[in-house]
Amino acid sequence: MKLSSSACSIARIPSLFASLCRPICSTSLSLSPSSLKPTTPLFLRPPTFSTSLSELNKWHHWAKNLASSVGSSFVHLDNGPDSTLLCRELRWLLEDSLEDHSLISQLGSQNYHMDVRLRASLDELYVLWRQRIEERRPFQYIVGCEHWRDLVLSVQEGVLIPRPETELIVDLVKDVVLDSRELKEGLWADLGTGSGAIAIGIGRILWSQGRVIATDLSPVAVAVATYNVLRYDLKDMIEVRKGSWFEPLKDVEGKLAGVVSNPPYIPSDDISRLQAEVGQHEPRLALDGGVSGMDDLLHLSNGAVSMLKPGGFFVFETNGEKQCQFLVDYMENNNPGKFCNVNIVSDFAGIQRFVTGFINDKCH
Ligand SMILES: C[S@@+](CC[C@H](N)C(=O)[O-])C[C@H]1O[C@@H](n2cnc3c(N)ncnc32)[C@H](O)[C@@H]1O
Repeated sequence: MKLSSSACSIARIPSLFASLCRPICSTSLSLSPSSLKPTTPLFLRPPTFSTSLSELNKWHHWAKNLASSVGSSFVHLDNGPDSTLLCRELRWLLEDSLEDHSLISQLGSQNYHMDVRLRASLDELYVLWRQRIEERRPFQYIVGCEHWRDLVLSVQEGVLIPRPETELIVDLVKDVVLDSRELKEGLWADLGTGSGAIAIGIGRILWSQGRVIATDLSPVAVAVATYNVLRYDLKDMIEVRKGSWFEPLKDVEGKLAGVVSNPPYIPSDDISRLQAEVGQHEPRLALDGGVSGMDDLLHLSNGAVSMLKPGGFFVFETNGEKQCQFLVDYMENNNPGKFCNVNIVSDFAGIQRFVTGFINDKCH
């Protein structure tokens, strides 16, 4: 994962628990007229604003003081960011805002009258940084993007910021398609696609005949995923559909080579205790998995039986060990003999995170 250049890194992502930077002009997108127009990430906006180095310096000084005033108060409050991380974010915000990154090293110099080209007005930068510190608005929503695997994905309010642990889903798919031409050239579904992260990751590893359908109930997610698919030039390979889970996939019932999903899995009562950046700003629709957090996982595992073809592969992300174990037991008891090679896979932090498996060839 890229740590610098435009924005975002692993440290920029508030965990739920604890480039390709190909510019595309938003006017060139072929989103349907009824869809929402996604916000262009800051680093892709034209540098149409100007200020003097001295004014930028003043803003930077103010912003740094505001970040420093936080100390470790957010850490104690809800495991939020400390001032060291906020100062790092401030540098990333500068990088995304400035046309000429080399000016960062000149902040504080005597070159006061020098003209500086910006992608947002200085007034907007004051507002954005206040929102970051005082409202705990997630940094990724401030800059409008997140780095995820080798992608830079557009994100905005209404769409979950993709997390690093979810990257592993693409690797798990990569492992199974390596061995199987049928899976490599097959039809895949990413359910609850959000920014389109997993669908795009999979789209880039399938062979040219392979296809992905990405679904989401949220109209904002559908618009943002479509934008990201277009940015990565994958519109012939990835189709984004709006609707609830398998409902928009009736035409491909029994034909899917793979189903992947990172559904909402946080127990409803835990949401108020999440870090402010997550609980107060990310969409509840993306987080809330019902009383036990299992509502959507159980629904998806049931649906996978009829949606996947024999030998089809699935990966579901969960909240951790308890949900993984519950899901595996549920699958065995509720659909005996339908699944095979069901496995629990840990994430990079060693937490049991994913349930993977295949549809039994003999059960259809
Ligand atoms: C945890 S987020 C995952 C987003 C994205 N796949 C990722 O990993 O970054 C869950 C997603 O499921 C979507 N979702 C919630 N309920 C849904 C439903 N009934 N049908 C389809 N999508 C749904 C949310 O809008 C959200 O985008």
